[in-house]
Amino acid sequence: MSDYRRDYDLAEADSIGGAIGAALTPGDVVLLAGDLGAGKTTLARAMLKARGMAGEAPSPTFAIVQPYAPPEVDLAIAHVDLYRIEAADELIELGLDDYLHDGALLIEWPERLGGEAWPDALALTISGSGSARVLTADVPPAWEARWPLR
Ligand SMILES: Nc1ncnc2c1ncn2[C@@H]1O[C@H](COP(=O)(O)OP(=O)(O)OP(=O)(O)O)[C@@H](O)[C@H]1O
Ligand SMILES: [Mg+2]
Repeated sequence: MSDYRRDYDLAEADSIGGAIGAALTPGDVVLLAGDLGAGKTTLARAMLKARGMAGEAPSPTFAIVQPYAPPEVDLAIAHVDLYRIEAADELIELGLDDYLHDGALLIEWPERLGGEAWPDALALTISGSGSARVLTADVPPAWEARWPLR
């Protein structure tokens, strides 16, 4: 279902991302779609912060995959940016599914290369610019009972 939509400013990004981050469990995939500078990393940082990350997580734009593991965070999380991925085999080489055995994936730019690889993902889309953004969420069945924003 495509069922959630709200406007939010930078201050609210922290509580929105924090609420989603706190609800994460192993095996979860969160897709963060939206134009350049939409606010994807900002929400991912708030999710990491909710899991214990101290300080500001770097953007994974250049590393592509930025893994975090306990004790730095209380749930293993790989923060991924697919912006520079150009072919399906590059995606396969990243071995992202391996992170799902005991952790979660936060994926920026899923539209770059088949976000359909994770049909059960929580799909977030950020639009707008300036001092406020719009968040829409496709909440999959696996998230219905624990979707923290109403
Ligand atoms: N809800 C918001 N309201 C206002 N400004 C915001 C909001 N969310 C993020 N920003 C600001 O937008 C800018 C870009 O944010 P961010 O780096 O998170 O975007 P991004 O989507 O990850 O960009 P990229 O496409 O480069 O990965 C930052 O200056 C950030 O502070
Ligand atoms: Mg980013």
